[in-house]
Amino acid sequence: MTTSTYTLEAFVQEARTLVAAGTNSDATVSALADPLERIIARPDCLTDFEGVDTPSPDKGFVIHRSQELTVLAVVWPAGGSAPIHNHNGWAMEGVIAGEELNHNYARVDDGRTPWQATLEAIDPSRVRAGETTFLPDPPADIHSVEIPSGKTVAIHLYGLDLLKQWRYRFDLETGAVTPFRARIRD
Ligand SMILES: [Fe+2]
Repeated sequence: MTTSTYTLEAFVQEARTLVAAGTNSDATVSALADPLERIIARPDCLTDFEGVDTPSPDKGFVIHRSQELTVLAVVWPAGGSAPIHNHNGWAMEGVIAGEELNHNYARVDDGRTPWQATLEAIDPSRVRAGETTFLPDPPADIHSVEIPSGKTVAIHLYGLDLLKQWRYRFDLETGAVTPFRARIRD
């Protein structure tokens, strides 16, 4: 039996097929877990990328973008972080090197006060190299990210065109909700 390398291109194709066939987000996320684990098991998988530009090893880049699926290479500096935000859909993280710590939140207000939200911290998730996690559909899609150790490289998947979305940032102390549009790292 011969074993062939599982390429980034093959992973994206498999992810697109699973997303297209998915009946609901729970089933889709569940089906995507194995392919994501398989691709992040290759520490050099991002070198497969053949985009128009040569990506910087210190910055993330878009691997795939469509209406139904966004796949990002995410590069965090040591000590990096992302403020509390939502995604408008499910998300998955697979860490290639380093570690991502997700602080997850539930929205507990009734949503009737414009641009205000009350959040409660729920179980955080720590994702180490070779591990994956997911964040559910709204309203359970609120989190912040902390990079507790060194530089971290990950593949993130989102079940929509993330870069097209208007989303929200949340201030835990004041309750303020602020709209924003994605940059690559998120
Ligand atoms: Fe996020």
